[in-house]
Amino acid sequence: MALSSVLTFLVLASTCWINVNAIYSKNSPVLQVNAKTYDSLIAKSNHTSIVEFYAPWCGHCQNLKPAYEKAAKNLAGLAKVAAIDCDEEANKPFCGQMGVQGFPTLKIVKPGNKPGRPIVEDYQGPRTAKGIVDAVKDKLPNHVKRLQGDAFEKWLNDPASAAKAIIFTDKGTTSPLVKSLAVDFLGSIAFAQVKDKATAEKHGITSLPSVQLVTAPGEEPITYNGEINRDSLLSFFSQVAPPNPDPAPKEAKSAKSKQSKSTPSPSASAAFSRASEAHKSSDFDDFLASSGTIVLDDDLPTDSPLPIVEHEEKPMVVPEVAPPIPTLPTAVDVESACLTPKSGNCLLVFVPTTSESSELSQPATSALASLAEIAHKYDKRRASMIPTYVVPDDNPISTTIRQDLGLNLAGSLEVIAMNMKRGWWRRYSTEAYDVVDLESFVDAIKLGDGSKSKLPTSLGGIAPHSSEPEPVEAAETVAEPEPEASPTTDHDEL
Ligand SMILES: *[C@@H]1O[C@H](CO)[C@@H](O)[C@H](O)[C@H]1NC(C)=O
Repeated sequence: MALSSVLTFLVLASTCWINVNAIYSKNSPVLQVNAKTYDSLIAKSNHTSIVEFYAPWCGHCQNLKPAYEKAAKNLAGLAKVAAIDCDEEANKPFCGQMGVQGFPTLKIVKPGNKPGRPIVEDYQGPRTAKGIVDAVKDKLPNHVKRLQGDAFEKWLNDPASAAKAIIFTDKGTTSPLVKSLAVDFLGSIAFAQVKDKATAEKHGITSLPSVQLVTAPGEEPITYNGEINRDSLLSFFSQVAPPNPDPAPKEAKSAKSKQSKSTPSPSASAAFSRASEAHKSSDFDDFLASSGTIVLDDDLPTDSPLPIVEHEEKPMVVPEVAPPIPTLPTAVDVESACLTPKSGNCLLVFVPTTSESSELSQPATSALASLAEIAHKYDKRRASMIPTYVVPDDNPISTTIRQDLGLNLAGSLEVIAMNMKRGWWRRYSTEAYDVVDLESFVDAIKLGDGSKSKLPTSLGGIAPHSSEPEPVEAAETVAEPEPEASPTTDHDEL
């Protein structure tokens, strides 16, 4: 096997240098940028980035790779870890402009006061994951106000900013996780952190840390009672507005309205969050263990029920009702909608019904109503909802898919998301089928977050772009054993 890969390498190397040369593979957690994309991906981001300027032939660059990729995993969701190949003709002038004189050169790019005018500093610290992670965390933009007493009340009652997130904590510093969330919702949610107990108690907080969201001035605060990790918090805050797409979508031709500008570009925002998948469990999941549970309030208000929109200015318009989820009655329908090798995200709702008895169980009814409403909400803000279909039990493919995926057999409700192109599927395993729960599931899929399973080959799953690490190349690339970076030290805390 080793011999054959060497041969393959030689063949490829002689035919296409560029691809073989690139230090970072397509699946690397390191974001690859070039002279063209640097501006939108790095310079205009509201997040801090670290950028490695490298040349593929440079030994120190190759030595840096494992540490740099490790840093990228640790910083996923908090900052961007990027690399640019200065050996590529198209990038050479840009690297020169950036003052690069040797390889690798590492620069930390922190957003400045003016958009697109970041503060760029050379990173001169140790070339270890820990050294890089610590230095970058130190440069995260902080949009979280630390407030107490009257100053906090004043801020809370200030009608100028519409939505507010409040982090009650006993910590004196703001965690990277909170800083990154404040950046994601910059412009739509103002963040504050409150340390003093008296203020927390006054606001009914009985245990720390605790997160509250005020969706609009005068609204009752909603207490967050999910797990403390980036993905869940992102979904929670998304009930106000979607996180800022990063990079920002290209200006619409006519830049019609504010609404069209703020329309999320899911693929773009996913790009930033995607890498977090890889390390989420290891880095963030023990947050609760270290910080205690923060369940305070069980009756989290659900979203408004089916929208009965009141058109004040246009009284003639019929109230909007969410259109129902379409049904796929035959196997061929399901195959062409979701099971071709090119099919992207699909949401399938297996419902226990047949064409003879169209009576639906209560959970099925509420799942379909919730999904219809979510689709309708997406539609209203002109975002594209994941294509969603009902598969009734009397569609013969229902049994096949249920069996292949190990789901409950006919007669029970199942909601799954799948993506043939990427070769994964995921089951909705919450008992409740309300809008809030289903919407976090949908949002997580759209953001590329959460754990997924490989589609079995029986369904045609071949997982072409699995996120498995590429095979380790040569031992010589590791110059010195790196001290274990301990990424869990602070960014799993509020
Ligand atoms: C940066 O933040 C501003 C709000 O201050 C927001 O309008 C913009 O979309 C954000 N840009 C990106 C790329 O996230």
